[in-house]
Amino acid sequence: MPARLDAPLKVTGSAKYAVDHNFPDMVYGYVVVSSIAHGEIEHMDVTAAKGAPGVLGVYSPFDPLALSAAMSPSFGETWVPLRSTKVNYVGQPIGFVVAETFEQARDAAMLVEVGYRQLPALTSLADGLATAEAAVPAHLDTPPEITVLADGVDSIEDALAASPVVVDATYSTAPQNHTPMEPHSAVAVWESGRLTVYSGNQGSDLQARELATALDLDPAAVRAVNPFVGGAFGGKARTSAPAFLAAAASRALGRPVKASLTREQVFTATAGRAATVQRITLGAERDGTLVALRHDSWSSTDIERSFIEPTSHGTSREWYATPNLAISQKVVPLHLPPPTFMRAPGEAPGSFALESAMDELADALGMDPIELRQRNNSLAPPGKDLQWSSKHLDECFRIGAERFGWAERSPRGRTDGDWLVGMGVAVAMFPALRFPASVRITLNADDTADVQTSGADPGTGLLTVLSLVGAESLDIAAERIKPRLGDSALPAGGMSGGSTATASAGTAIMAGAAKVIDELLAVASAPGAPFAGEEVAYADGRVHGAGRAMTFGEVLRAVGRPNLTAVGSSAPGEEMTKHSFSSFGAQFVEVRVHRLTREARVSRMLGVFDGGRVINDQAARSQLKGGMIWGVSAALHEGFEVESGGRFANADLAGYLIPVNADIPDIDVHFVEYPDTLHNDIGARGLGEIGTVGVAAAVANAIYNATGIRVRHIPIRIEDLL
Ligand code: MOS
Repeated sequence: MPARLDAPLKVTGSAKYAVDHNFPDMVYGYVVVSSIAHGEIEHMDVTAAKGAPGVLGVYSPFDPLALSAAMSPSFGETWVPLRSTKVNYVGQPIGFVVAETFEQARDAAMLVEVGYRQLPALTSLADGLATAEAAVPAHLDTPPEITVLADGVDSIEDALAASPVVVDATYSTAPQNHTPMEPHSAVAVWESGRLTVYSGNQGSDLQARELATALDLDPAAVRAVNPFVGGAFGGKARTSAPAFLAAAASRALGRPVKASLTREQVFTATAGRAATVQRITLGAERDGTLVALRHDSWSSTDIERSFIEPTSHGTSREWYATPNLAISQKVVPLHLPPPTFMRAPGEAPGSFALESAMDELADALGMDPIELRQRNNSLAPPGKDLQWSSKHLDECFRIGAERFGWAERSPRGRTDGDWLVGMGVAVAMFPALRFPASVRITLNADDTADVQTSGADPGTGLLTVLSLVGAESLDIAAERIKPRLGDSALPAGGMSGGSTATASAGTAIMAGAAKVIDELLAVASAPGAPFAGEEVAYADGRVHGAGRAMTFGEVLRAVGRPNLTAVGSSAPGEEMTKHSFSSFGAQFVEVRVHRLTREARVSRMLGVFDGGRVINDQAARSQLKGGMIWGVSAALHEGFEVESGGRFANADLAGYLIPVNADIPDIDVHFVEYPDTLHNDIGARGLGEIGTVGVAAAVANAIYNATGIRVRHIPIRIEDLL
């Protein structure tokens, strides 16, 4: 069996993604997007488009598809396109053209004439911050301010004033987009009052429910198939514009509709990561002990204020032991595409600020950056009584320092020919969460077993996890497990997001396996069955009675049953009241900056992670490597350039830089493996997002070590190092 079940399918091209599905009489949709950042659509002239060859329908806010506001089970009101003439950003979906062929739909879309009444637009976080009233306290689910003060301390200002050493700096991070390889796309088939939508997503049952509310259908009439997903990272947690539009157009036209965003549209007609500005003030004793930590954060959001990038809440609230803590979170609504969850939302940009500031503090103290972090290791989040269930961050640093050769680091870096070489470290943390999940286990008479859930495998390895945890729970070889996921017709498996899927689905598999084994034993010992009246036990895929054993398939055949089924469920519970839960890691980066050209190259990377039990070494390792590459990308490559009119100047893969192989060295990933059974029965915590956390700071810290130049924004470019 291959280490990753989906690997052969993906590398041979036989994996069928959403748009690889074709149906008789299928037609094609093309999304029309806005060209202004703020205003009202006064009219849309669609006469030419409607008359173009092959065109079947041209939909707009004036001639809309039947789509209503939709509530997402996870995100509240979700984005349903074409419901308003208001334009809030460049690249907002405002029309949908359906034709017999893709080319005809695209050509006709170019003929749609849009008349706007343009309004002033605010499109830069810096401009927004300059207008005091633009920054508003964040709301949604995040409390805007949290303050914890030691007894006898009146304010965070007092605590900072009393600190012998203070570092006060402001950091900023660029807005980003998930840029999945597979553009957001869908194929919708409407048949006898029932809708099936094939669309890459992070959870088919959630997608089906969003589609059902938007199309005002009974949830039972909607099936979402989420076959293979070409990258999601938080950007496919909600149903996409093409899925809503294809579904509604298929209903209107009575024909299957296929629609995909173009590569350029992926950058605007979806959602990305907010820009942030973060001010951090650290107060410490001369021995490095933190006295006070203040972290004020401002992040961009869209006009509807759909999301807060929880930087200070995701990092400073939990990372270090400090007697005095004050964090705040404000948002600046801008006329830009909405932000949403993007891999390690909060922690990714938040850790750039906090872990850069910690490096600045180490420098101010003349202290080793690892020692400073160990000095302030927390046993529990500040102000909380609940200790971490299992934390081995010290060990991550100890092993990492050894593996990386940290002892060779000098406080002023070193040179190697024309290269200035530096090393940097940072902490990585990401909360360990679980979501409710159900998995169906079926024992078959041919001695195979089905493990099925609606959950998603957006490249994270969940399919393989179903097979491995299923095999372990049923005590049989993984080759005998037939895993299936990505279909809302299966038991609700929740979302692959928040680094939760392995813990959530894995625990549900264990519960389901225990149930089906109980049923098997009851069937095997029932009157007339092979073990009638005997004491029976299950082990090794067999029912064991007095002196003999039969496989579960043999038992089922003997009693004339094709199969036996049980559904196991899991959800976060009482454990949340007993401990705090997080994954931990130590990031090590070596950077080379050319003395003359000032280009910065990451030359070595090591991440040592404490994420509980590792179920599938290869999948876990590639998640972490991928995340670390994201960190390099954030540090040195990635970010939108916003033009004054609110257009992204680099909304394509030529201008939106992400690392290629030549930018990435060999990456060393090491696990310290302590199964965390206080968190869940399989002992695995999340590893999907933590890989990116801390990396951008470790790169910036290594650049400082190499050059003496402290860059407080990402991405860091050549011009920052001149
Ligand atoms: Mo993600 S940002 O875990 O969907």
